Amino acid sequence: MASETQLFSADLISPKVLEALPKGYTARPLQRTDFKEGHLDVIRDLAYVGDITEEQWTERFDLMHRCTGTYYVVVIVDQNREGGKIVGTGTLMVEKKFLFKLATQGHIEDIAIKSDQQGKKLGLRLIEALDYVAEKVGCYKTILDTSEEKEGFYEKCGYEKAGSEMHHFFDAEAQERGI
Ligand SMILES: CC(C)(COP(=O)(O)OP(=O)(O)OC[C@H]1O[C@@H](n2cnc3c(N)ncnc32)[C@H](O)[C@@H]1OP(=O)(O)O)[C@@H](O)C(=O)NCCC(=O)NCCS
Repeated sequence: MASETQLFSADLISPKVLEALPKGYTARPLQRTDFKEGHLDVIRDLAYVGDITEEQWTERFDLMHRCTGTYYVVVIVDQNREGGKIVGTGTLMVEKKFLFKLATQGHIEDIAIKSDQQGKKLGLRLIEALDYVAEKVGCYKTILDTSEEKEGFYEKCGYEKAGSEMHHFFDAEAQERGI
């Protein structure tokens, strides 16, 4: 069961992923105290974040928590790390559709492994963990947007190239920063 302190139930974390992670690392749902564990610092290795206070971060966590069945943020934790222990984060967002017999589709978003931890298969395990959640909650597929340089990584995770991404900005700063 999900609790007030974790975003979703830990029962949705793949036992195979837990087994495959290097010694001392684990994967778990995002927790309400994870600002202190360096969650935003990991996302900073992916994109501009801005100056977010702990209070603002916690408000966003609570909002996601209220959207039951929609947001699944998985984090990879290095249990022996000094300071913030989170070294990876990724989001599965679950969309309810009308097409394909009222299908449920997953969106993989905001995948980041801390720069000094890349190349240890943590990214692969993170995607496997998110895909496991997606299948368990009834998604018929997951989709994601990426850049050409990252396509090889997602292919290693079992993804196939499909379609093309388009965007329409409504925020000049976001457009300038390429977020
Ligand atoms: C992309 C990212 C998530 C990959 O995570 P990682 O932990 O370094 O990658 P892994 O060690 O799990 O790699 C798994 C496999 O993918 C390959 N791979 C990793 N990055 C790759 C890339 N950019 N292009 C091609 N293959 C890549 C690895 O060589 C490995 O292959 P192998 O199984 O044959 O050895 C990570 O580098 C990262 O967070 N980058 C910064 C943020 C970012 O760009 N996020 C993605 C936004 S779409």
